[in-house]
Amino acid sequence: MIHVIDAGNRHLYGAELEQHYKIRHQIYVGERKWMALERPDGREIDQFDTADATYLLAIENGRVVGGTRLVPTICPHLMADVFPFLADVRGLQRGSDIVEWTRIFVVPERRGTDSKILHSVLAGMFEYCLANDIAAITVVMETWWMPRFLELGWEVRPLGLPTMIDGMNCVGTIITVSEDAYRRTLAFKDIDAPVILSHRAKRAPGERRISHG
Ligand code: COA
Repeated sequence: MIHVIDAGNRHLYGAELEQHYKIRHQIYVGERKWMALERPDGREIDQFDTADATYLLAIENGRVVGGTRLVPTICPHLMADVFPFLADVRGLQRGSDIVEWTRIFVVPERRGTDSKILHSVLAGMFEYCLANDIAAITVVMETWWMPRFLELGWEVRPLGLPTMIDGMNCVGTIITVSEDAYRRTLAFKDIDAPVILSHRAKRAPGERRISHG
C-alpha cells in the first residue's frame, strides 16, 4: 500500500521518513551520482523538503521500497526556482490545483518488469491528486520517461525544449490528472484500487482506535 505523509501525520512516520531520506541518498548520490546532493549525514534532503511537501511512500512491513514527493506549485519548487528555463515555451504553470512531482524511486532489488512498485506509486499519485482536487502535475524529467508515460496513456505536454543539464537530457512537462490516467496506470500492472492506505490505518504507538460503531 502507498502511505501519504504530510505535515498533518508526519509525527507517525518518523522512522519511515528517515529511511526514505537515506534511500534517496543511496540512490541519487550513490547510484545516479548526482553529487550536488551529497551530504555528510547520508540523508538526501533539499530545500523543497519542507512542511509543504507530501510524500507517497510504498512501505512493506516497515520497509520503504519506493516513493515520491509532491510540492505545491504555489510554494518554492524545483522548476520555478532552479530550472525555470525548462518552461520557456509555455511558461511556468502554478496554481493551488497544480503540484510539482520530484524524487520518484524504487529500491534497486524491487525494480523491473515483474515489479508493481513503480506503478503503485504512480497510481497512488493520481489517486491522491483526484481526491485532493489537483488537476495537473508538473515535472522536471529526463526525456527517457516520455515513452514510458505515453505507454501508460497519460497526457503529457512539454513546457519548453529539451535541454542538457549535467549530462542528462531534461524537459519540463505538465501531466493532466484524470480518472482515465489513474485507471490505465492501475491496469498496466493489474493493480487493485485503492492503492493509498486510509489515513486512519496508521496510529501512533499506544493510540487506540476509536470505534464509531
Ligand atoms: N536512464 C535511462 N532509462 C532508464 C533509467 C535511466 N537512469 N532508469 C530507468 N530507465 C528506463 C529503462 O528503459 C529501463 O529499462 P532497461 O533497464 O531495460 O533499460 C526501464 O526504465 C525500467 O527501469 P527499471 O529500473 O528496471 O525498473 P522500474 O521501472 O521498476 O523503476 C525507476 C524505474 C526510475 C523508478 C528506478 O530505476 C529508480 O528508482 N531509479 C533511480 C531513481 C531515479 O533515477 N529516478 C528518476 C529521477 S527522480
